[in-house]
Amino acid sequence: MAYENIIVETRGAVGLIRLNRPQALNALNSALLGDLNIALGAFDADGRIGAIVITGSEKAFAAGADIKEMQSLDFVDAYMEDFIGDWEKVPRIRKPIIAAVAGYALGGGCELAMMCDFIIAAKTAKFGQPEITLGVMPGMGGTQRLARFIGKAKAMDLCLTGRMMDADEAERCGLVARVVPSQDLLEEAIKAAEKIASFSQPVVMMTKETVNRAYETTLAEGLRFERRLFHSMFALEDQKEGMAAFTGKRTPSFKNR
Ligand code: HXC
Repeated sequence: MAYENIIVETRGAVGLIRLNRPQALNALNSALLGDLNIALGAFDADGRIGAIVITGSEKAFAAGADIKEMQSLDFVDAYMEDFIGDWEKVPRIRKPIIAAVAGYALGGGCELAMMCDFIIAAKTAKFGQPEITLGVMPGMGGTQRLARFIGKAKAMDLCLTGRMMDADEAERCGLVARVVPSQDLLEEAIKAAEKIASFSQPVVMMTKETVNRAYETTLAEGLRFERRLFHSMFALEDQKEGMAAFTGKRTPSFKNR
């Protein structure tokens, strides 16, 4: 499949997607989103792929939704077309997605990174929700995910002032899982994705689903959900294999069954 706004490759069991609109700092227009949804859907359906990495360029992961595309939109069109409704497909991907962020992750770019399962940031990364400077507010989950991930104080600070936060601050407040030297970003993200892809795929997918429950339900419900899926894992050959390999002091060979 030929894409215009992204570059798609596979590295063994890892699906790699690079956002590629360098002339607009990877601003997220509807064509790019269309490409991204198709590529993510294809990796999700491909049994050979165990994890996905989304990255941008050295200068920008993505500088936000495409302002030039949004500029002339009016309320009725936005409402009737359900503008940006298609972004809901990204968090529904069932395989883990790592965002490898260098440079700007602003507005929709920060929101896309937050739709991924975790963020590995280069030292150069800058996160922010500058929508307020454009006369709007975040619309792809920024107000909700940011508040849940980094708390009210920082979320309000970023959304109300539009300021950017660097990689170290983003790591301190829990937005970012790891900060790495810029030249190592892609390699570190792919290494993490390869590690994930080496485990039992159903277990990986159920783990993602279960951690995500923590953001959608009460603690008691979340714990019940965890317990049910945990019990179900004893029906997997991979559980037998993983534990037999441990006691036999050998490396497990998971069959994704
Ligand atoms: C469209 C964009 C863009 C964007 C940059 N460009 N960001 N085009 N939408 N979000 C374009 C510029 O117009 C310019 O094109 C080229 O990319 C290079 O950008 P410069 O501004 O010249 O680069 P620089 O001076 O290095 O500044 C980098 C920057 C700045 C600080 C990131 O570009 C910037 O502030 N961008 C906008 C960030 C933003 O407000 N994002 C939130 C968008 S709203 P030309 O043709 O002039 O060379 C949003 C809402 C999401 O995301 C929720 C609902 C949709």
